[in-house]
Amino acid sequence: MDPVDMGSDLERVLLTEEQLGARLDEMAAQIDADYVGKELLVVGVLKGAVMVMADLVRRLHSSVQMDWMAVSSYGSGTKSSGVVRILKDLDADLTGRHVLIVEDIIDSGLTLSWLLANLRSRGPETVEIATMLRKPDAAKVAVDVKYVGFEIPNEFVVGYGLDFDEKYRNLPFVGTLAPHVYGA
Ligand code: PRP
Repeated sequence: MDPVDMGSDLERVLLTEEQLGARLDEMAAQIDADYVGKELLVVGVLKGAVMVMADLVRRLHSSVQMDWMAVSSYGSGTKSSGVVRILKDLDADLTGRHVLIVEDIIDSGLTLSWLLANLRSRGPETVEIATMLRKPDAAKVAVDVKYVGFEIPNEFVVGYGLDFDEKYRNLPFVGTLAPHVYGA
């Protein structure tokens, strides 16, 4: 898909595919440097993180183990509820592992703060977080995030894994949604 395919549903392109890719190059180089000589278990949080996960791990220069978790943090609306349910748990045992959680976006921080506590209780050596996007203005809880792609304004964003009503995840860029789409 490209911006034209979205028609009037797109308000504007916030981050292009090129900008996302260039930032991922930097993040991958940093992760490579930070984990020299260590085996990394990369945990993608479904569904939003699929794009970041795929693009980030392919930029790393060492082999990593990949695992997935699915959690539900949103109710029927578009805001985090703070109530997190595990829909799919990890296959891997975290005991003694170096774990890197990969997310598409941190909004309120409620999902990640819950996930961090949950994974830390499983006996890993380290747990860090990498996220493509973070909305600092929307943070309800402080979460210590080691790798942040971009800080973005508190707007309704879609694309690069992020959806509205399960649509627009397959945009290769991040865009803001026109208010008429979500009924504002
Ligand atoms: C999104 C995103 C994070 C969470 C962030 O997931 O992938 O997991 O919301 O929000 P928070 O910081 O306010 O908790 P969502 O629940 O929409 O599921 P999805 O990844 O399947 O779209």
